[in-house]
Parts: sequence; structure tokens; C-alpha cells
Amino acid sequence: MASSRSSSRYRSRSRGPSPIRTRHSYLGESEDAVDPDEAAQTNHAFTEGRVAVITGAGSLNGIGFAAAKELATYGMKLVLVDINEAELAEAVKQIEEKVGKGNVLGVPTDVSKIEACKALFEKVYDTFGEVSVLMNNAGIGPYGGAYTNLDNWHKVLDTNLYGVVNMVHTFTQAMMSQENPAVIINTGSKQGITNPPGNAAYNVSKAGVKVLTENLAWEFRQANAKVTAHLFVPGWVHTGLTGARTKDKPDGAWTATQTAQYMLERVKEGKFYIICPDNETTPEMDKLRIMWGAEDVALGRPALSRWHPEYKALFEEYMRDNLAASSSLAPP
Ligand SMILES: NC(=O)c1ccc[n+]([C@@H]2O[C@H](COP(=O)([O-])OP(=O)(O)OC[C@H]3O[C@@H](n4cnc5c(N)ncnc54)[C@H](O)[C@@H]3O)[C@@H](O)[C@H]2O)c1
Repeated sequence: MASSRSSSRYRSRSRGPSPIRTRHSYLGESEDAVDPDEAAQTNHAFTEGRVAVITGAGSLNGIGFAAAKELATYGMKLVLVDINEAELAEAVKQIEEKVGKGNVLGVPTDVSKIEACKALFEKVYDTFGEVSVLMNNAGIGPYGGAYTNLDNWHKVLDTNLYGVVNMVHTFTQAMMSQENPAVIINTGSKQGITNPPGNAAYNVSKAGVKVLTENLAWEFRQANAKVTAHLFVPGWVHTGLTGARTKDKPDGAWTATQTAQYMLERVKEGKFYIICPDNETTPEMDKLRIMWGAEDVALGRPALSRWHPEYKALFEEYMRDNLAASSSLAPP
């Protein structure tokens, strides 16, 4: 049993330093201006007759299938990829009805397996000869605590992170060698940025997708490539992953179609970070939460201080004050 001396030392250390109050004036500011060259380049990737490959596109309630339906309206050729063969077959059938049989390919693939990604690559290039939009979107969410459920850690990292790594390693060189511009869109999550406690394995996988995609964008910039990378961060979306097969959409969630449309508009403008709102979380709330998390590191606050009992009131005050300040900056 710990001595009273050591337990009181533990108590004072666990409390950490006094909460640090921060103020922000950046909410009225934005780097969101569109670069016309970047926008022209990314727009070209979405033109009629070009080819989009979407992983995790088999779920009829999912974001990947919603993106496929949108891209079908652009007259693009579509490659739908999913591990679930039965759902994929139905998804392909529905897209074929929109764009015709010759313009859709369904390829059952487990993206966590590099050999499967290579076989997919061969099939896509044999059939359509190029890829202008690669959307790495397949994802799963079984629970992995920080020190529990090791099997789930492997499953989640193999799909959510290695699935993206495998696809990027398999497709990037060929996409860079193409004559025309192309884009790679990787689906991350706010859980990989603000790291809300609850599913450490999922958060780690999505933090990895963020870091990978940032590095990919930098490498494309260094290489003066005609390929751009984009980090797509959905908000709360009513999909297979969040219970759409059994429940009605909660008021706070967005639909997959809303989310896919929001994402595509911004990729076409050349944006790298695409942080989607939902019916509960506004872009201003996201900005403040992201800044608070970054300041945990910069200011040396306790890990995940947003969920620390001694910081709860301060975090709420920070959100309230800054949201009030930002609404006073908004045009009437
Ligand atoms: N729904 C949300 O609120 C939300 C929020 C943030 C991020 N995301 C991310 O969005 C992406 C799409 O998920 P969704 O919400 O549309 O869920 P979804 O379950 O409807 O779709 C995910 C699809 O990925 C497929 N898949 C799973 N493992 C695979 C593998 N190894 N190989 C190929 N396909 C595989 C599934 O079969 C499914 O069709 C995921 O990366 C998810 O983490 C979702």
C-alpha cells in the first residue's frame, strides 16, 4: 500500500499546474482563400470520362458510396472497392443504373493486404488506363483501449492506417506519371486531431492518416507533381459505421451525401484540410477545439485537458467567450 507521503505527492502531481487561460482572436481570420492554379488542377481531375477509385464504397449508407453517386453525376468512370462483396455488388448495380455498365468496375478488395491492393491496381489500369481521383476511405471502428483489446488494435490499424499506406504505395507512382492532374483524398477523422478519449486504437489510426497525408502533400509539392493530397475529415455522419443500418438519423448528424458534397466542393477548390461540420458542431467550434488540443502541447497542460475535471469549467468558458467574440465579428 502506498505511504501517505507518496500518495499525497501523487495527488499533487496528478493535479498538474494551474489551468492556463488562453484567448483567441483568430476566429475571424482565415487562410481559406482559393488558389486559382490549384483549383484548376484539382478540377481537371474531376472531369467527364476520368477515373475515380473509392475504397469502402460498398456501404449503401456510407460516405464512399455517397461520393461515388456524386462523381457519377460528373460523368466520371468509377471503381468501387470494398471488402464486403455482397454490399459491393448492390452498390455497383446502383451506380451502373446511373452511368452504364462499361463505366463502373466493382473490385472486392481487402485494403489491409498489400497483395490485394496490387491486384486491384492491375485491374484498374488494365480496364481504364488511369486514375484521376483516389479516395482512400475504407474504415472500421472496433474498440481498442490504450492497454486493452490488442486484437482490435491490429484490425483497426491494418484497415484504417495500413489500408491507406498500402493504397498510396501502390497507386502513387503511376498517378504521378500520368499526363493529367490527379488527386488523392484520404479519409481521416476529428478523432485523429482532437483525440477525444474513448477508442484509442481508432484515434491512433486516424492521427496516422493525418500525418501520412500531410507528408504526402509535402512530397508532392517538393516533386512539383501534378498530384495533390487532401485530408478529408468528416464530422458526425449517419452511416454504417455509426448505426445507419439499424437506427434513424439523429438530428445532430449529417447525411453521407451532405458530407461527400461538402468534401468534393473543397477538394475542387484545392483545399488540403477539409474539416466538415455537422448539425451539432460548427466550423468555429472545430477551430477552437483544435486550438485547445494544440495548446495542451504548447502550454504543457495535462494530456487531453479538455476532459480533465479541473479544466472542464475553463474549457467551457474558453468556448463560450470565443464563440461569443466570433459571432460579434460576423457580418449582420
Ligand atoms: N460516420 C462518421 O461519423 C465518420 C466520422 C469520421 C470519419 N469517418 C470515416 O469515414 C470513412 C467511411 O466510413 P463510413 O462512416 O461511411 O462507414 P461505413 O461502415 O458505412 O463504410 C465503411 C466501408 O468500409 C468497408 N471496409 C471495411 N474494412 C475494409 C477493408 N479492409 N477493405 C476494404 N473495405 C473495407 C466496409 O465494408 C464499409 O463498406 C471511414 O474511414 C471512417 O472512419 C466516419
